[in-house]
Parts: sequence; C-alpha cells; structure tokens
Amino acid sequence: MATAVPATRRRDAFWNENDSFRIHEDAPSTEDTEMNEEAHQEEDDEDETAEQETESLAEEAQESEESESSEDEAASSNQVQYDMEKLQDAFPGFRQKYRLIKRIGEGTFSTVYKAQDLAYDKYDNSWDLDRDNYDRWAVPPIFGGGGLRKPTYVAIKKIYVTSSPNRILNELELLHDLRGCDSVCPLITAFRSTDQVVAILPYFRHADFRDYFRQMTIPDMAIYFRSLFSALASVHAHHILHRDIKPTNFLYDPSSRRGVLVDFGLAEREGYDSKPCLCHDDPATRKAKLKPLIKPELKKAYPKEDTRPSRRANRAGTRGFRAPEVLFKCTEQSTKIDVWSVGVILLTILSRRFPFFNSADDVEAMIEIATIFGRQRMQHAALLHGCMFETNIPSLGRSGYSFEGIILWSTSRGDSKDNLSSEEKLAIEFLSRCMELDPSKRISAKEALQHDFLRLGLDETSSVGEPSEAGDDDEMDMLKA
Ligand SMILES: Nc1ncnc2c1ncn2[C@@H]1O[C@H](COP(=O)(O)OP(=O)(O)O)[C@@H](O)[C@H]1O
Ligand SMILES: [Mg+2]
Repeated sequence: MATAVPATRRRDAFWNENDSFRIHEDAPSTEDTEMNEEAHQEEDDEDETAEQETESLAEEAQESEESESSEDEAASSNQVQYDMEKLQDAFPGFRQKYRLIKRIGEGTFSTVYKAQDLAYDKYDNSWDLDRDNYDRWAVPPIFGGGGLRKPTYVAIKKIYVTSSPNRILNELELLHDLRGCDSVCPLITAFRSTDQVVAILPYFRHADFRDYFRQMTIPDMAIYFRSLFSALASVHAHHILHRDIKPTNFLYDPSSRRGVLVDFGLAEREGYDSKPCLCHDDPATRKAKLKPLIKPELKKAYPKEDTRPSRRANRAGTRGFRAPEVLFKCTEQSTKIDVWSVGVILLTILSRRFPFFNSADDVEAMIEIATIFGRQRMQHAALLHGCMFETNIPSLGRSGYSFEGIILWSTSRGDSKDNLSSEEKLAIEFLSRCMELDPSKRISAKEALQHDFLRLGLDETSSVGEPSEAGDDDEMDMLKA
C-alpha cells in the first residue's frame, strides 16, 4: 500500500471552476513592447534559437572529448549554485515546498532543475501515474523529507524572463489542455513572481539520446516510436502542433522503455496565424493557380528587381528537424510537420548518425533534403506551396538516393539490400511514410500507430513499463550538497 495521503487539494489557485488555465493575478506585465516586437521578429528569433541550440550541441560534443578544466568546472558550479539560491529566494515559501537538487537541463528558453517535492503528500497527485508503485521499488529513505516513502521529485522549469509573456502563457495553457494525455508530460502547477515564471513538472528519469541511440535494436526503436507517436496522436487530436520534435524534447528511459514528450514552448494551435496555401488545393486547382506564377525566365537567373511579394510563415523549430513545407514557407502548416521531425529522429537512429542533418540555414537545409530526394521530387514539393526550387549544384542528382542505400552506406554495409533484415526493411518503409515530402501524403500520428513497424515491440513485455531500478545517482548529489 502506498503511503500517499488521500488527495486533498489542488496546488495553488491555478485551476478555476471551468478548469481553464489561469496564471497569477498580478498587475499586467509591462512587456508589451517585447510582445509586439516579437510578432515582427518571430522569424529572426527562431533562427537564433536554432543556432544557439545547435551550437550548444556542438559544444557538448566537444566537451565530452576534451575534459573541462577544473577552474572552469568550479566557476560553472558556483554559477549554478548562485542561480539556485536566487531561484529559491524569488518565491516566498519555495524552500518549504521544494528542495533544489541540481540543474538537469539548459534549453533555449529555460533552465530546468531537479527538486525534491517536499509537500507531495499534501496535494492531489492524480498526475502521478506511479504513485501506487512507490513502495514496490522504494529504496530505504536515507535523506530527510521523505518520511517512509521514497522522496518524489519534480522538474522545475525556470522560463527565461526574456521570453514573451504570450509565449509563456501559451506553453502553460497548451500543457493544461493536454493534461491526461498518454506520454505527454503533465503540468503540476506554475508560479509567477514579478517577471519570473516557473513551471512544475513531474521529474522523468531519462538518458542522453547520444548514449543509447547507437545500441537500439529494431524492436527497441518500435517501442521508442510507439511512445512518441502515442504522445503526438494525443497532441494532434487536440489540434496542437508541437513544432519542436527532437531527441532532447522526448525524454526517454531505455531501461524502463518509457518516454514522455516535453517542451511546448513553440507549440501552437492548428490554424493559428494561417493563410490559405496552394498545398491544400486539389491538384487541378493548384495547377491552374500556378500557371501564371511560373515564369520560364526565372529558371535561368534571378530577377534584378524582384517585385513578387515576400512571404511570411512560421518557421519556429530546430535546424535539421524542420519539415520541407516549413522551409518552403507554407502558410498553412499542419500537424504533419511534427511527423517529419519524428522521421528525422528515426533516420538518425537507423543510420547511427547524429545529427543527421547539419545545415547552417534554411537554404542549406533544402539542399540536404534535396540530396536525398533528388532535384525532381524537390521541385514538385516546392510547387505544392507555390515555390520554385532551382539549383545548379552539380553533385545534386535528379533522382537522389533511396533510404535503404543511405542506411547501408552510413552503417558501412555495402550496397546490397540483402544486407538489411526484414525488420529493418519494415522500419525503412515506415521511415519513408514519415519523411514524405508532400504533407498530405505523409502518414498521420494516428495512422502511424497502426503501422506494422510500431506493432513490432508490442509482444516484448519483459521490462516495458517497469520503473527503472538503477541506483539514483542524485542521492550522491544530495550528499555533496
Ligand atoms: N519533466 C522533466 N523531467 C526531467 N528532465 C526534464 C523535464 N523537463 C525538462 N527536462 C530537461 O530539461 C531540458 C530542457 O527542458 P525543455 O522543456 O525542453 O526546455 P527548453 O524550452 O529550454 O528547451 C530537457 O531537454 C530535459 O533534459
Ligand atoms: Mg527543449
């Protein structure tokens, strides 16, 4: 029997009668300028986001090769300690509710800390799917605050004060709408003190993608993607686009084989800010509309005075994971953009290359995709959105390569398809359904769950769903603290 006290009350006053998300009632923020500016600067902002992100990935990779000097280490741990103190002081009563343990993540828009949830037993913990399991896998409680039960942990996401209030509220609202969805990280509560907002999420143990993706078998992949697609199917059923699907936003624990989707910082509702795009027309209408736009002279050179109106579309996301329609500035993007990004993760795992795409900007990203699909298919994909794709790069072939060929090449297995197992071929067939250039032909998350590839791991019940027993290395961190 778990020792959890019966659910008593919800945390704080964030849940009103109609169960819609509401943040504190402090005076309106004075950050209107930033919000307005953001509306105009969205594109540049996202570009920077992606750049910072890839840079930090590159930095981390380098870090693992050269060890940090002890002086740098000390300076950075002092800084982390300082930031943690500051955060604890920013909210009255923080120390009675949470005990910060360590920094676990630093994303583009936030820093995330692991903390012990000291007041767990005083609240409604219906978000906690493991609450009845604690006794079964509990280790003796050595450290204070846990009583007889294993301490429970939360992830505290400190959203940077430079994020626009609209964006912060959007993330919290969408998480609130998605409560109860399979494999989506629930939001426990959120606090605001002046311009600082923190979101409280259940802590999910997970491993670094780079440490496990090379060892994954095909059934392992099926289980990973089943979990990711279950999350996406629920998100998409709510008509929400995540927009930033990538390994660091899907927290996966290979030992328990459980995953959870996080980071709705760039998510948006389908249709938000959208304008009709040719890709939603039937082929005949599209052809008729395209005819006057296609000028043969444009194929030979760029016009000196380009009088065509510039096109604006949401391109939020991370470099290397953006769907072709995002690169072609489709103005009517759909949930299918997320499916493409999942395809990129699958391609990464099958090819054992991370990052698989490594472009500096959107034009390079198009070239990378065109290298796989070939010039001809890329031109068709561009026309779907009223764009023309022309290139004179000699190495860019007309028909591109097959996914089988790319995977055999990148895993150094010659060029005979006989070198691929039947399970691998099934995974590659699934990959081609996810990385379909035309979003209307791309598989949906709901359909993906019915695909034979995602059913592969279903019989393997051995360790699936069991919380990991691995010793909690954070107990050591707590000792040091
Ligand atoms: N609920 C959680 N449990 C454990 N770690 C988390 C949790 N949420 C976030 N993290 C860690 O923090 C990182 C950044 O969080 P994320 O929500 O993606 O913020 P950002 O918008 O800054 O990218 C994640 O990649 C992950 O390593
Ligand atoms: Mg993130």
